Amino acid sequence: MPCLLEKYRDFLPVTPQTPIITIGEADTPLVRSRRLEREIGCGELYFKLEGCNPTGSFKDRGMVVAVAKAVEAKNSAIICASTGNTSASAAAFGAVCSLTVFVVVPKGNIALGKLAQALVYGARILAIDGNFDKALEIVRAITQKHPITLVNSLNPHRIEGQKTAAFEIVDVLGDAPDYLFIPVGNAGNITAYWKGFVHYKQAGKALNTPKMMGFEAEGSAAIVRGKAIADPETIASAIRIGNPASWKGAVAARDESGGVIDSVSDDEILDAYKILGTQEGVFGEPASAASVAGLIKQRNNGTDFSNKRVVCVITGTGLKDPDTAIKSAMPPTELPADLETVERLVLQG
Ligand code: F0G
Repeated sequence: MPCLLEKYRDFLPVTPQTPIITIGEADTPLVRSRRLEREIGCGELYFKLEGCNPTGSFKDRGMVVAVAKAVEAKNSAIICASTGNTSASAAAFGAVCSLTVFVVVPKGNIALGKLAQALVYGARILAIDGNFDKALEIVRAITQKHPITLVNSLNPHRIEGQKTAAFEIVDVLGDAPDYLFIPVGNAGNITAYWKGFVHYKQAGKALNTPKMMGFEAEGSAAIVRGKAIADPETIASAIRIGNPASWKGAVAARDESGGVIDSVSDDEILDAYKILGTQEGVFGEPASAASVAGLIKQRNNGTDFSNKRVVCVITGTGLKDPDTAIKSAMPPTELPADLETVERLVLQG
């Protein structure tokens, strides 16, 4: 199986000097919906399961390119600001390339699993008294002064790698879908997908491009409101971002594709999160459920998806955020280790 850097070499900034590294990223499943498709009334609905990447999110696609290019340039240290997933991915690729990895995160505000990952992969974790936007400001300033590679999506190699998810969707479906629903935080991913769909069409690999449907969380919806938000809030901590770095890219993706950037409330996110789990067997993290929440909202507002092919990107695995999972569900029934009691409850259903 060729790895991402080999498979899409012609579309990536890979040179003969670029080290071909991999931890098993990309080539994630595109799974057909069993139930929501019928409820929404879609022609076809698919979930792109990016949580199946080795560090549990789509970040691995961009990180493998950014880290390979850092190694090619003989840099020995990388740094990022993160709501958790970027830091996990940077830490993993940094580990295999023996780089020093610094991750700057908002203290107390990243999901437990993501913190655990950065620790296990051996990154230096700097937890600041401030939010993601402040962390990004700090790492940008540091990388302007010191020879440390910034591996946030401001690094263009990140966007290049992430666009391969669009290639995979087209490779499987035979063409671009009609609609792509995607959560929006720092807005790098929507920018990357759009770039991927456009490149594939230009290369003759697809006839069409999809309408790009990006969804921010309501309490962090800077692009929707048209102004940066100083204190972004949402249960979806991965997209709790008040001043997206790729703002312009997201707006261009929307306008060029004839799509939409809108917001979904925390309640809508949690409803979609539960629907994904209980009806589709998909355990995405809350931020990932914003794509599905967006689809439901759009349908409720009257968009007709019949005969349309729709893809929702499930950007990260729900295992990263056990706290939200446990808080949002019924607690387990506790009972004595006794056959009759357990049997009685089983028969009650
Ligand atoms: N979904 C998940 C699970 C994420 O971790 C992120 C971003 C997004 C969606 C939004 O993608 O920023 O490209 O618009 N996480 C970043 C991080 C900010 O630090 O891990 P985006």
